[in-house]
Amino acid sequence: MLTAEATSIQESIQATGAAWDVERIRADFPVLRQTVNGKPLVYLDNGASSQVPQVVIDRGSLYLEQEHSNIHRGVHYLSQKATTAYEGAREKVKRFINAREAKECIFVRGTTEGINLVMHGYGRKFIGNGDEIIISAMEHHSNIVPWQMLCEEKGAQLRVIPMNDAGELLLDQYDALLNERTKLVAVMHVSNALGTINPVGEMIEQAHKYGVPVLIDGAQSAPHMPIDVQDLDCDFYTFSGHKMFAPTGSGVIYGKAALLEQMNPFQGGGDMIKSVTFEKTIYADLPNKLEAGTPAIASQIGLGAAIDYLNSIGREQAAAHEQELLRYATERISAIEGVHIIGTARAKASVLSFIIDDIHPHDIGTILDQEGIAVRAGHHCAQPVMQRFNVPATARASFAFYNTREEIDVLARTVEKVIEMFS
Ligand SMILES: Cc1ncc(COP(=O)(O)O)c(C=O)c1O
Repeated sequence: MLTAEATSIQESIQATGAAWDVERIRADFPVLRQTVNGKPLVYLDNGASSQVPQVVIDRGSLYLEQEHSNIHRGVHYLSQKATTAYEGAREKVKRFINAREAKECIFVRGTTEGINLVMHGYGRKFIGNGDEIIISAMEHHSNIVPWQMLCEEKGAQLRVIPMNDAGELLLDQYDALLNERTKLVAVMHVSNALGTINPVGEMIEQAHKYGVPVLIDGAQSAPHMPIDVQDLDCDFYTFSGHKMFAPTGSGVIYGKAALLEQMNPFQGGGDMIKSVTFEKTIYADLPNKLEAGTPAIASQIGLGAAIDYLNSIGREQAAAHEQELLRYATERISAIEGVHIIGTARAKASVLSFIIDDIHPHDIGTILDQEGIAVRAGHHCAQPVMQRFNVPATARASFAFYNTREEIDVLARTVEKVIEMFS
């Protein structure tokens, strides 16, 4: 069943599909102007890392040229400028995901670090022998391995929500897994390997009936749809800047203040303390308690600029354009004989994974690259998904709002060429 939540997300995204001036948007992204192997670059690997608009590049340069300094520690002019810009970026993140307070937004290097922060700070403190952690069958390795490490250390158990052949979670089985031993649910919002949009709002509501906190891996949702953490009522939500038009090294783990307050610091060091003696350290208040050492200042300021950029182009309209691209690409690619789409959920975002009979996905990726097309070929850091669908790997085209129908035509024609070459 497509849940009411998934239907309403999809309908609201599709409804906004007004005119989208994709050429004007493309002009904002210098990297897209190049040729690769003599062909115009067709960049369809946005799920791995998205491209960066000129305004974000300029903001990073401005920091390096005129503001570079360490934050929170100097009374001097440059340090104050850098601190203001860095904390300004946190305010932008707060508004972007509608957190209650900026201190609930902890800067991390990306989703992986966000999940590991919760594992160390929350999991190691509150999860013990015989407790259970629920994840789903479609998780990225970064939302599997940290929990396995915790289970091994504490004697806890990992429970996995299964999915159907379309790549949709079986929610009745999720309900059956929840019980008084469950201490955490950690699920992805959108699958990077299949594109499925999970009905996380309903899943959070279910978990909360048992008093269980929920972590949402938003690596593939933050770039593609408006996010409201208060509306979702998630307890933790994490995403990576480099997948949403910002530099690498930027990212966020949001947590409800009451939970973050209770957590142990992930790392100890400078900037996360109130006072230190050899006998005892008193930790700083949020958010500093969870941000030890000098952070990726330029990158996080860049994330703030990327948020400004996304707000300026219209997140709903961008999402609607991506939905239309996904619809068109699905139609074009699935019409090619010998091609099979992996991940056919009714609610999907921005990802089209496919295999071709008797051709290894790495060969598909290599030939597409010769034509200037960047897709990802492999297991997408989701080996259990590959095992579930009984494939070694897939080729994955993942879209952003700067992609065009013409690029999808190029992809489809080149896939046909790949099949001809191998026949
Ligand atoms: C769903 C999902 N979760 C987590 C990650 C890990 O993100 P990062 O490598 O930026 O930490 C990715 C990256 O592909 C992802 O797609």
